[in-house]
This record gives sequence, C-alpha cells and structure tokens, in this order.
Amino acid sequence: MSGVSKPSVRLGAAALGAVGALMLATPAMAEEGFRISQTCAGCHGTNGASPGETIPVLGGQNAAYLADSLRAYKSGDRDYYVMRIIANGFDDKQIDAMATWFADKPWVATDTAFDAAMAESGKSVADDACASCHGDGGEGTDTGPRLAGQPAAYLVLAAQAYKNGSRNHAAAAAALEGVSDADIQAASHYYASLR
Ligand code: HEC
Ligand code: HEC
Repeated sequence: MSGVSKPSVRLGAAALGAVGALMLATPAMAEEGFRISQTCAGCHGTNGASPGETIPVLGGQNAAYLADSLRAYKSGDRDYYVMRIIANGFDDKQIDAMATWFADKPWVATDTAFDAAMAESGKSVADDACASCHGDGGEGTDTGPRLAGQPAAYLVLAAQAYKNGSRNHAAAAAALEGVSDADIQAASHYYASLR
C-alpha cells in the first residue's frame, strides 16, 4: 500500500494547499457565503448539517476541499446532475465565499444510520488504507477531506464514484483501486459511526 499511496499523498496535498492559500475569509465574503448558503439548506441542512443518507455534511468540512468539489461539479470532473446545475450558477468568488462560510461552521454529526457490526470490522481497513490521508479518526487532513460523521450511504456512493470514474480524481481513485467493495462498505460504516 505504501508504495502506491506516497506519491498520491503529495499530489493531494498540493491540490488542496494551492486553493487553501487563497482562502482568507473577509466580512464581505462571510455575508455573501451566508446569503448563498440559504439556497443549499433544503438539501444540506441548516449550516450544512445534512440530515440525509445520501447528502454530505458541509458544515465544518475543509474549505479548500469544498471549493474543489464545487469546481469539479462545474467542470464535469464530478458527474452529478443536480450539483452541476447548482454549481454552474456561481462564479469563483461566490464558490470561495460559500466554501469558507461552510468550513467555518461547527461539524454537526447528524443521526444517519450505520451498521454497528460493519463499523467494528471497518476500523482496521480505515487505519490501514485510509488514515494516511483522511486522518486517524477520519477527521480530515490537508490531503483528504473529513469522513468522520458523514452518512455511511453517502460515503459508499462517493468512494464508488472515484472507482468507476464518475468522480475524476487521480489520487483518490488510486487510493481506492485495490480496496474491495466489502472493505469500502466496512470503512464507510466505521467513519459514519464516529460522532
Ligand atoms: C437538491 C438538493 C441539493 C441542493 C439544493 C444542493 N446540493 Fe450540494 N449536494 C447534493 C447531493 C445529493 C450531493 C452528493 C453528490 C455526489 O454524490 O457527488 C451534493 C454534494 C455537494 C458537495 C460535495 C461535498 C463533498 O463532501 O464532497 C458540495 C461541496 C455541495 N454539494 C455544495 C452545495 C452548495 C454550496 C449548495 C448551495 C449553493 C448545494 N450544494 C445545494 C444535493 C444538493
Ligand atoms: C492517498 C491519499 C488517500 C487515501 C489513502 C484515501 N483517500 Fe479518500 N480521498 C482522498 C482525496 C484527495 C479525496 C478528495 C478528492 C476530491 O477532491 O474529489 C478523497 C475523497 C474521499 C471520499 C469523498 C468524501 C466526500 O465528502 O465526498 C471518500 C468517501 C473517500 N475518500 C474514502 C476513502 C476510503 C474509504 C479510503 C480507505 C479505503 C480512502 N479514501 C483512502 C485521498 C485519499
């Protein structure tokens, strides 16, 4: 695993860091972020605390990652119809404003379902194959986004999307390449259980 993951770690860090350096929130940005975020709340919840099984929590997530994600929906690197239409409505400044606004909110662990037995077996998968980028308890690093407390069903769908190419991201896909579907399920339930 380490032979594959090390170059990818550096790639991922460079990608998040480049955007991160530009993301200083000004009061005007915070106001714009609040204004726009109201249009997201119907799906992603108040302050990005999503209550849905297939909708990610945004509040407290890494700002650079949120901005990268919105740009990826826009460019088609993430193939997801609804978020593409939504992201297309915003320019770069608005995307950065939304990303910093959500990142500034506390993470709220919402009450989505997970399987306790799978969560238990998933810890070793997560420690071995995911922690180097996503952090020891899945709390996120500069390299990989927070996974802890995201809904299990969403994590499974997202991981599969890197594997099948509907999310086009070389480092994330390489990290998941040798991981079985059963191990992805288990790791996802483990991360969902951390709240
Ligand atoms: C109609 C429901 C809906 C609305 C409204 C909506 N989203 Fe989403 N959003 C989703 C779903 C579903 C996903 C998961 C898509 C996927 O699987 O890639 C998502 C994914 C995302 C992601 C990726 C997060 C991650 O962890 O990778 C970001 C960022 C995001 N949305 C931001 C926004 C913002 C900002 C707004 C408001 C401007 C918004 N969304 C409005 C449904 C919605
Ligand atoms: C080499 C670093 C690396 C490793 C190891 C890694 N990932 Fe990731 N992962 C990433 C990066 C970078 C992203 C963000 C990609 C993007 O911008 O779309 C990501 C994104 C994700 C997402 C999407 C989160 C969201 O909010 O949409 C999931 C789910 C995920 N990884 C699961 C896993 C699991 C499960 C493992 C272990 C089996 C793992 N990853 C191992 C780098 C890694």
